[in-house]
Amino acid sequence: MQIKRTLIITSLVAIVALASQSFSYVAQKPPGVLKNIKAFPASMTYREVDHQMDIFKVSLGVKCNYCHAQTKESAPKLDMANDDNPKKDIARDMIRMTRDLNEKYMAKLSHTDPEPLQVVTCNTCHRGAAKPSDKVVMEEHRPFSPQGPPPPPPTK
Ligand code: HEC
Ligand code: HEC
Repeated sequence: MQIKRTLIITSLVAIVALASQSFSYVAQKPPGVLKNIKAFPASMTYREVDHQMDIFKVSLGVKCNYCHAQTKESAPKLDMANDDNPKKDIARDMIRMTRDLNEKYMAKLSHTDPEPLQVVTCNTCHRGAAKPSDKVVMEEHRPFSPQGPPPPPPTK
């Protein structure tokens, strides 16, 4: 009786293990291998890089092909490890710049409110645009006049 129960439990465990294995195989492709990482930390996994890529896409309002090239051999797919698209190297400099901003400047900033210190991200500047806007909307404000503000209306 005891042996029979152990047998049933063991086979149940085996079935569950097999089922979850085949489920995770269907649910997620086996992770890829990183080939050409120069700006991200070497410790980053494929899945972490892939997740960052989705964040890049949304922060800049672009698709993967904005930074990644299609080569003759890779067509019609993009070759993610290839460096032919010049935007990819600009993005690498942006990764380094963003890291420097956080490590050299933000980390030393004095902070007066109880909220945790913000981290500078691609989206801090880009906000959904490949080229962040440097234009300030001044419609609601006084226009600049080199003579200074107009004189006040005369009083009687
Ligand atoms: C703003 C530019 C940009 C966009 C958009 C972008 N990537 Fe990337 N991607 C990069 C950069 C830069 C690297 C290399 C990072 C490094 O050298 O540390 C990279 C690396 C990768 C790698 C690793 C390649 C390897 O093996 O070396 C994969 C995979 C990848 N990107 C996938 C994607 C996917 C999928 C998308 C769209 C969802 C995407 N990327 C969108 C800039 C971008
Ligand atoms: C401190 C602000 C700031 C941050 C943070 C920032 N960027 Fe930028 N980025 C800019 C500015 C400004 C430009 C436009 C430069 C120019 O005039 O060519 C730019 C340009 C770019 C371009 C080239 C766009 C083009 O069409 O030529 C890419 C790609 C890019 N950024 C990716 C990124 C990524 C990816 C991140 C995060 C890792 C990031 N940026 C973080 C300010 C920033």
